[in-house]
Amino acid sequence: MIKRIAVLGAVVVVLALGIYAVVTVYDNLMSAGRMWETPAIKPHERPVDTMAEGVVPFSGGEAQLRATPAEELHSPWQQADEKIIERGRTVYARFCAHCHGKNYDGMGTVGQSFSPLPTDLTSPEVRAMADGELFHSISYGTPNGRQPPLHASITPGDRWRVIAFVKSLSE
Ligand code: HEC
Repeated sequence: MIKRIAVLGAVVVVLALGIYAVVTVYDNLMSAGRMWETPAIKPHERPVDTMAEGVVPFSGGEAQLRATPAEELHSPWQQADEKIIERGRTVYARFCAHCHGKNYDGMGTVGQSFSPLPTDLTSPEVRAMADGELFHSISYGTPNGRQPPLHASITPGDRWRVIAFVKSLSE
């Protein structure tokens, strides 16, 4: 009886080892690889890609406009047409008139309380300013902080349009 059990046990062990060997060989020869061996990326497992320090946009972008010296910034239009100036007038009414006033002399609802008054936009000083200088003042403010930086409120295109409008005032 004991002999029988021993033989049966031996047969079971041999069979188990045989199956294990076959499965191992099959596994090793499998071209796709076992699922637990292939890379699995769980959410948040991989660090978020970060940009190398000092990377700047290739073209466009506020940072690039800000970094460009005023004398190198030019209006996209050689000659502003009526449509551009009309749009500039609307931008002026929305973003400038409360300070610079409806007559451009600084006597706006808010501007009239300033001392000194906001710059007269029809003055020879403003007329003498290049488009790029105007763009810098309107976008990033004047160094004394009195002209507010408006780059976050007005698109670059509309800033050039309001500049065309301001220029048209002294033509
Ligand atoms: C909060 C009030 C305020 C608003 C809004 C404002 N300005 Fe001014 N602006 C000023 C004041 C004050 C100055 C005078 C700055 C100084 O003392 O140098 C000024 C100066 C200027 C100058 C002369 C800049 C220079 O470098 O000398 C221009 C041009 C100008 N503003 C245009 C505009 C335009 C265009 C808008 C609208 C898009 C606008 N401003 C909106 C208050 C304002």
